[in-house]
Amino acid sequence: MITIKSEREIELMRESGALVAKALDLLEMEIRPGMTTKELDTMAEEFIRDHHAVPSFLNYAPKGDPDVTPYPATLCVSINEEVVHGVPTAKRVIREGDIVSVDCGVYKGGYHGDAARTFVLGVIDEQVQLLVDVTRECLDRGIAMAVEGNRLHDISSAIEDYARSFRFSVIENMVGHGIGSELHEDPAVPNYGRKHTGVKLRAGMTLAIEPMIALGRSRRAISRRGGWVAVTEDGKPSAHFEHTIVVRPGKAEILTGTFLERKRT
Ligand code: MF3
Ligand code: CO
Repeated sequence: MITIKSEREIELMRESGALVAKALDLLEMEIRPGMTTKELDTMAEEFIRDHHAVPSFLNYAPKGDPDVTPYPATLCVSINEEVVHGVPTAKRVIREGDIVSVDCGVYKGGYHGDAARTFVLGVIDEQVQLLVDVTRECLDRGIAMAVEGNRLHDISSAIEDYARSFRFSVIENMVGHGIGSELHEDPAVPNYGRKHTGVKLRAGMTLAIEPMIALGRSRRAISRRGGWVAVTEDGKPSAHFEHTIVVRPGKAEILTGTFLERKRT
């Protein structure tokens, strides 16, 4: 069931969303080669708790998979061939030349916000830089379609078409989602599909749109049994950007937009 949020609910989601954005802004300013992914996680958790909120992902347990243990951290930090759900540890050091996808969720006032950015550390391979730039643009193009009267897969096809025009690969087994009082609500928001199909978008639907795009040919992200991190099948790098948005007439409202001056996403 897809719920339509009231303006009062959206106001609360604006607060959760702003906190997610500010946490990611903080990480964007602080991330450096030599840091561990655990250091990033601690920084984010302290920031969130200092603002009287709770990390959405911490202890999250996916329904229907008894093999998977509850998620043990605040952030997902996924490096290079890791697509999503990289679990921060004190052993994993971030290096120059890495791309680091950081996903953050915040629960406050009864509602979740969810967003992700891929950070580039130092000088990286030209193709990998293009992958990151294209994935960010995929998100923007998806959001541009999230307006009242369009259909769900107008978002999906805008993302897929742009990624494919660079011969990049869309990860198909991981999707965006509705969001609100639950982190994952209906509908699933795939990053591929046929335009003019899927449910009609209505004002007040709140969606987390999150393209995951890879170099190479992998269309799936695979994880070991019982493990969280999901990697490309061919070991090629993957990028991930995500915003929580509200469907509006004419133009979607982004709830997790950055506060940094040098505007990127
Ligand atoms: N943004 C991701 C998602 O929507 C992060 C979830 S991590 C989890 O699936 F631990 F909560 F699963
Ligand atoms: Co999400």
